[in-house]
Amino acid sequence: MLYPVIMAGGNGSRLWPLSRQLNPKQFLPLADNHRSMLQATIQRLEGLNTALLLLICNEEHRFIAAEQLRQLGMEEANILLEPVGRNTAPAIALASLRAVDTSTQDEDPVLLVLAADHLIQNVEAFHASIATALPLAQQGKLVTFGIVPTHAETGYGYIEQGTALDTGGYIVSRFVEKPDQVTAEKYLSSGQYLWNSGMFMFRAGRYLEELERYRPDILAACRSALSNANQDMHFTRVDAEAFAVCPDDSIDYAVMEKTDSAVVVPLDAGWSDIGAWSALWDVSDKDVNGNVCKGDVLAHDSRNTYLHAESRLVATVGVEDLVVVETKDAVLVAHRDRVQDVKKVVESIKKDG
Ligand code: GDD
Ligand code: MG
Repeated sequence: MLYPVIMAGGNGSRLWPLSRQLNPKQFLPLADNHRSMLQATIQRLEGLNTALLLLICNEEHRFIAAEQLRQLGMEEANILLEPVGRNTAPAIALASLRAVDTSTQDEDPVLLVLAADHLIQNVEAFHASIATALPLAQQGKLVTFGIVPTHAETGYGYIEQGTALDTGGYIVSRFVEKPDQVTAEKYLSSGQYLWNSGMFMFRAGRYLEELERYRPDILAACRSALSNANQDMHFTRVDAEAFAVCPDDSIDYAVMEKTDSAVVVPLDAGWSDIGAWSALWDVSDKDVNGNVCKGDVLAHDSRNTYLHAESRLVATVGVEDLVVVETKDAVLVAHRDRVQDVKKVVESIKKDG
């Protein structure tokens, strides 16, 4: 039995102005028209033998998270609330501690840790990789799911594939989180590396052991935050004071780069991280000129442009490679190659209040 854990505490600032602090991308219907990224993540689990879902997100998103679960008939699911975001190493520590506490089985529970903002086009292939991963996780491995890289992306983790295992999967000989451009290019051309998809499978106790070894400070803060948690219906609110002192770090830096127990199972399932507008352009249906048109938009003599209108008619004439996103109170116009920098706009808005 698998314990699904969905991490939904990111802020998705590169998808501004659609993704907002109070309504970040994982709660938006970005890749589908009828369900949010989170809901698609949950529905992708159908057909697997899983325990009750554990969702971990920020306190300020509790109502939207609960409502989206309710829409899927999953009001029973547990929602673990963080008063502040401390990144994925603590979030997964809280989930692991909680799973160990509440597991009804004698065994150390096997967690399937998922991000709430991935697109996976081939669910069957996804399930097949999960089936390969399960016995490895049961043996105490920390399983990552590896994607064949298509370009020298610096926003991902890179996994060097080592010896093949009889049971499927490979030993991870090296894990490098978000390398610089030159290193990413070197890894890409070597053909030895896969991208880290950002999904993991391991026994909760094994993750906690590795965290104890490499980041005992994070584990101690999480233990204390959870032992003083407050239970309110399906919400578990971790203690704010104890969690406030928890260091901020991702699982990738805190554990995956350091552990000797990592293995990688290849995933060839049309995976995509909808991190920025360009990724959304990549995966969306386009017109004959390569434009993606969402809402009331008109692309005249324009090419390879992403156009999204929420409240007004938006028209472009004679432009190429642009992203134009209109909402009631903000409009973004960016070059498609520069969309990673959209988060800088958000940072400066925050700074200026
Ligand atoms: N609960 C909670 N709390 N969730 C969080 C937090 C937090 O503080 N921070 C991030 N998350 C959630 C995000 O909502 C997302 O679903 C997931 O955790 C991953 O976080 P990102 O911030 O999107 O990570 P990333 O994209 O920079 O990098 C990770 O994913 C890449 C693939 O998409 C890494 O694992 C990379 O190695 C990987 O290549
Ligand atoms: Mg991400």
